[in-house]
Amino acid sequence: MDTLLNTAIEAARNAGALLKEGFRSQFSVSSKTQYHDLVTEYDLRAEAIIMEHIRATFPMHAILTEESGHHETNSDITWVIDPLDGTVNFAHGVPLFCISIAAISNNEILVGVIYSPMTDELFTAEQGKGAYCNGNPIKVTDITTLTKSFLVTGFPYSVSDNPGHCIEHFSHLVSMGIPIRRLGSAALDLAYVASGRFDGFWEVLLQPWDMAAGSLIVREAGGIVIDYHGKQLNMKASSSIIAGNSILAHEILIELQKVDHVYQSGEFHE
Ligand code: IPD
Ligand code: CA
Ligand code: CA
Repeated sequence: MDTLLNTAIEAARNAGALLKEGFRSQFSVSSKTQYHDLVTEYDLRAEAIIMEHIRATFPMHAILTEESGHHETNSDITWVIDPLDGTVNFAHGVPLFCISIAAISNNEILVGVIYSPMTDELFTAEQGKGAYCNGNPIKVTDITTLTKSFLVTGFPYSVSDNPGHCIEHFSHLVSMGIPIRRLGSAALDLAYVASGRFDGFWEVLLQPWDMAAGSLIVREAGGIVIDYHGKQLNMKASSSIIAGNSILAHEILIELQKVDHVYQSGEFHE
């Protein structure tokens, strides 16, 4: 049977084989919003493969992708796709990147698949059915003390504008002595939180294709995903995100809000 999950898995594996083949080869690269915001020919080719596969199975479904935007239909179901998350890594020969595919309906994420071709790890979740890595159940950690946690974060391409005080958020948490990593792939960050490799993740202003699949995978792994107000995310818009077990995610939120409070109260002077 062609389920949403099977279709997402097949599409992700097909695109993964292409990315693996193209990794460290000669390929064209160009800049989008600014110099380091890249698109390679492999982003575009992977996206084409995924869309073709989904359309062959579910021709009526809508699609939202990073590189070609909205392809609206009358269907309730929208596929949300990042064909290559971690493009800067891919373009520089760093093997940390993945494919992220989700199917959503009315802000509910029905399935989420993240595939890391270089490690051959397939992270999957279906609403209400748990989260898996290569078929084995995965779970977020139960670390609840921030200073004992191992965190991962990321920065938007507009980091020099410091949106949402993201630089001070990082500086505040790293000054607490917390080991923090920046992998360069938000979808992998979420998959790694779901797998218990990291205890938590936060990042300002992610796009739906960066976070839709990973959000479901984290939730199905027993964690939560909230925005910087502690609310549910809107999967059709950009949003800031915190992920982890419920207690730790709220601990991160408290620390980010402490930083914001300093700015709002005017206590900060440049
Ligand atoms: C980016 C990565 C990165 C995150 C950026 C994203 P891309 O996606 O997920 O880790 O920090 O915010 O835009 O451009 O590699 O698909
Ligand atoms: Ca992305
Ligand atoms: Ca991308």
